[in-house]
Order: sequence, then structure tokens, then C-alpha cells
Amino acid sequence: MDFRLSDDKVSQVFHRALSQSGLVTEEDTSVIFYDLSFMEERIKDLVALFPPTTLHAVAVKANPLVRVLKLIENLNIGLETASLPELYLAIKAGFSPKKIVFDSPVKTVADLEFAITQGVHINADSLRELEKIDDLIKQHLSSVTIGIRINPQVGTGRIDITSTAGEYSKFGVPITDNREKLIECFLEYEWLRGVHMHIGSQGCPVKMLLDGAKIMVEFINEANAVLRDKGLNRQIDIFDLGGGLPVSYHRDKAPVSMTEYRDKLIPILDNLDGEDFKFITEFGRYIHANTGWVASRVECVKREPNINTAMIHVGADLFLRECYRPDLWHHEIQVVDHNGKIKTGKDDHKYVLAGPLCFSGDMIARDIALPRVEEGDYILIHDAGAYTLSMWSRYNSRQIPKVVGYHDDGDTFDILRKREQPDDLWKFWS
Ligand code: LLP
Repeated sequence: MDFRLSDDKVSQVFHRALSQSGLVTEEDTSVIFYDLSFMEERIKDLVALFPPTTLHAVAVKANPLVRVLKLIENLNIGLETASLPELYLAIKAGFSPKKIVFDSPVKTVADLEFAITQGVHINADSLRELEKIDDLIKQHLSSVTIGIRINPQVGTGRIDITSTAGEYSKFGVPITDNREKLIECFLEYEWLRGVHMHIGSQGCPVKMLLDGAKIMVEFINEANAVLRDKGLNRQIDIFDLGGGLPVSYHRDKAPVSMTEYRDKLIPILDNLDGEDFKFITEFGRYIHANTGWVASRVECVKREPNINTAMIHVGADLFLRECYRPDLWHHEIQVVDHNGKIKTGKDDHKYVLAGPLCFSGDMIARDIALPRVEEGDYILIHDAGAYTLSMWSRYNSRQIPKVVGYHDDGDTFDILRKREQPDDLWKFWS
């Protein structure tokens, strides 16, 4: 399958959207689009690649839109939740507790109690959390399955702040100094059945993910040998591999495919001693990033001798990371006219794409060559499906744009979320 949506496809869909009456209206200065057929294809592809007993728990934080959660539920897979409200969303969207993983790094006793009584799989983030879970399990006589997040300490990827497996990380239990303590926990708590790793998001090369898996497999084998030696009739049999497969945000850079990742991962998992292992995956970006894109109308163009600034209607409210760390994040940009027709050629001067927020770093692209941009044109920002709307910022009380989903390259469009109205902001701040 294609690794991202082509420029032609996106601009054709936008052209079709503009011709649908009432879909993109005057007040829709920006619209967020999701290709739901592509999302389904991604999920089906993932499911086909892994053993059928695998629980694919898609990371809610990448795209928590209720309509998207329901689409995922319909495809019979699960969700990874990283906060109590995300857990609530998953339950309310109709997911069976058996298909939900609860991973928050900061869980209160009340959060844990709720998750335990719901019967979802919990990954504890610390040894202290295991003690709290022990008390609750005794109280509720629950038969939930629990895992512990282990940091295999395989290094930091290209993006420091989304890497979670360096020597130090705020997440999980670092393996080097805690091997024995961890094994003691598996001996002590009979409900502790799983291990969990997550190496990082986007910046980590596949080799790093695979190194993490190798270290975890060695640990599982070692701990299971101890459990056997002690004559205990139980094993670690749940291995949650986390997410983290990077995607491409560039037209011409194909990423490592899920098939390639799977082909390298399975031989590592084959080294697990024992049978009947249950695997969990927690991909977010892989499922969502390339399915979404944003169209934003050009309000005006400021032309100066050496640079043009196109003022558009999204900035750091929607593209937080891109504005604050332009060195790390990139999106392909297209310019289309007011009818959605692709503009070609190159203007004499480069462009800044500036957003509407009150700070000067509010720019989603700097010094880029573009065709001549005019007022009323639209800027299309590609690969904005993951960690974009979910990281919306309330600064300047901007309205969240309308969100549109479509199937089959725009044969059908559906409003997934209405554009926020000023009154919604009033409610938010009241
Ligand atoms: N599992 C856990 C425990 C995670 O923390 C994450 C992401 C995932 C799975 C999904 O990782 P993915 O497959 O999406 O790479 N743009 C955001 C990224 C934060 C990622 C957080 N964790 C940011 O800049 O904060």
C-alpha cells in the first residue's frame, strides 16, 4: 500500500469537497480532513501481518475523535489509553475491556481502581504502582491482567523529547539496575503476567525498536526460567511491544514498512521460550499520521523585497511541535486556488506560512519555495493525521476547525466534528 497520500489525490479530494454544497463554507477558514478508507486499509494491513491472537491497541492520543474510535472498534481491534479520560472515551466508544490497555504514567489509586473494576489490561509504570495494584486486587478479588513497563535503555533517537528508552527516562523501570527487583515482583505477584516497552515516537530507527525487543525477550526468558525453577505454575505470557514505528512526512522518502518491521521482529519473538504468548501493539502515528491533512485559506499575503508572508488560519494552535521545533518537524505543502486547482511554478521570492496566534514564532513553514500565493488560495498541509488535532492549543481562544472524514477519494464526505463556535469557547473558559 502507498506510504502516504499523493499531492494529486489530496488536491482532487479538496476540489471535490469545495464543490459539495455546505461542506466548506465561508466561516471554514481551515478544515481538517481524514481519509477514512486509507485509515481502514492501514489497520487491516497491520492486522494481517501479526499473529491472529495479537491485540492491536491503537494509541488514542494520536487521534481521539469519537468517530475515529468507533471506526477502529468496528474493525475489531483495541485502544491504548494513557489517561483516565482516554480510558473513559474508549469505554464509551463501545470497546470491550478485553481490548483496552491502560498505560498512564501517573495513575491515582482511584484511576487504578476504576481500571481494575472495568477489567482492562493495565501496564504499571513503577514498582511502587505494583504495590498499589496489589492492595486493590486483594480488595476486589479481581482477575485482571497486569504488565510492568520496562525501559530497555537502548538509547535516544533523533527526537529527544519523544524518546523514552534512553539511559534515563521518566517512563517505566530501567532494566539495568532493576533486573533482580523486577524478577522478585514476578515471583511475588501472581497477577503480574506481562511486560511492556515503548521506545519512543517517530525519531527512533527500527534497529532501536528491535534492540528493545531483544532485551525484553532475554528478560522474559530469564524471569520465566526463575518462575519454573521455583516450581511456580505461571509464566510471563503477555508482551506489549508499544508503538513507535516512524512514518514519512516527505514526498520522496519511503519509510521502513510495517512488513519489513514485522519480518525483522518475528524472528526475535520466536526466541521466547514457551508457547501461547500474547502480543500487544500500540501504534498511533503509523495508523493516523498519513491519513489526515489540513486546508487553510490564505487571508492575505505580505510582500516584502526578499520574502513573502502568507497569513493563514492555523499555526501553533494546531501545529504545536512544528512551530516550536521547526528543525525537527516537516510537512509537505501544496498551494491550490479557490477552486482547489493545484498551482504550479515558483514565485521569485520564498514564503513564510504564518499563523494567526499572537507570537512571532507562529509559523508552520519558513523560507520555502512555493508557486505564487494569492489571497483566497488554500494551503494544503499534508500528513497531519496524528498528534495534531489531539495537541490542539487553546492559546488566543481560537476555534477548532471543522473536521471532515471521507471515503473512496471523496465519493462520500461526512462531518466528524463541527467547527467550534465562539460560545463553545465561552463555555471552555467559564
Ligand atoms: N504507547 C505509548 C506508551 C506511548 O507513549 C506512545 C506515544 C505510543 C504507544 C504510540 O506511539 P506512536 O506509534 O504513535 O509513535 N507528537 C507527540 C508524540 C508523543 C508520543 C507519545 N507516545 C508529541 O510530540 O508529544
